[in-house]
Amino acid sequence: MSRPALEHELWPALRRYWHPVAYTAAVGAGPVAVQLLGERLVVARLGTGLACFRDLCVHRATALSLGRIEGHELVCAYHGWRYGADGGCVHIPALPAGRAIPAGARLQRFACEERYGLVWVCLAADPVVAIPEYAEFSDPAYRAVFVPAQQWRASAARATENSVDAAHFPWLHEGILGSRDHPEVPVFEIEQVGEELRYRFTDLPNPMHPVAHERVYRLHRPFSIHQRKERADGQVEAVLIAACPRAAEETTVFLVICRNFHLTEAELAERMATDILILEQDRPVVESQRPAELPLDLAAELHLRGPDAVAVAYRRFMAEVGVDIDAGPVAVE
Ligand code: FES
Ligand SMILES: [Fe+2]
Repeated sequence: MSRPALEHELWPALRRYWHPVAYTAAVGAGPVAVQLLGERLVVARLGTGLACFRDLCVHRATALSLGRIEGHELVCAYHGWRYGADGGCVHIPALPAGRAIPAGARLQRFACEERYGLVWVCLAADPVVAIPEYAEFSDPAYRAVFVPAQQWRASAARATENSVDAAHFPWLHEGILGSRDHPEVPVFEIEQVGEELRYRFTDLPNPMHPVAHERVYRLHRPFSIHQRKERADGQVEAVLIAACPRAAEETTVFLVICRNFHLTEAELAERMATDILILEQDRPVVESQRPAELPLDLAAELHLRGPDAVAVAYRRFMAEVGVDIDAGPVAVE
């Protein structure tokens, strides 16, 4: 197989990964329309669990997300066909009494799990790997805060790479995440462990983090980043940044922050406003990148040895998705 050049070439392989599609809290009493890898989906709470189907009624191809939930069934808005949690149609109101429901009256169903306050979906029957483990979410010492989902007109891999690009902190987020007096990126090792890239470095104090702290990163292929900011006094902030590839140039960015220390409601509100500001600073820059999709060919852009090490590792890591390649030498300046 030839080496992939752009992100969308990975889509068939990315169908075998779990992706977050919505916050769990966004899925309430009615069906919710989401989108993943160009596929329009509907997520609904049917009975005790969540179900995810193609957002398409098998009768006349209308969006089931326009319908409603009654009992444990999803009811289409158009002619009222009712579907159960397994996707099978259980009632067709217009059908004369005594006539059987056609065997083909069945929705395409996808695997769907609730984890970390997010709804995760896998479009294939055989996921490559399980949903990543993030221990803080089951640890009662931590409290999770959910930043409202952001819609970016950008690719999921461009958005993900931005989150691990430390060199932009003093420039795009000056006065918040870094200082132009210290623009250098520390040198560190990056380790690939299965479906995960791991690295850590010490971050100098900055306005948002007044004392030096260790930043411990785990980047799970394809678009989930787990970052722990560990202070010597035991305070830990664990950040999950997960991107949903809705379409080639359409991404939902989810940001969940777990802290094992107390913040007042006013402090929490202030932190939330700052996190949204940081995302709003990132968004237009990432949306401006061309090509909009992340180039997987390392020769397509210029990389700096050291500061761009994570980006280079990430592009190689992504280029390996679903295909065996010889990474070859990287040109660095
Ligand atoms: S289109 Fe859904 S019931 Fe007819
Ligand atoms: Fe940023």
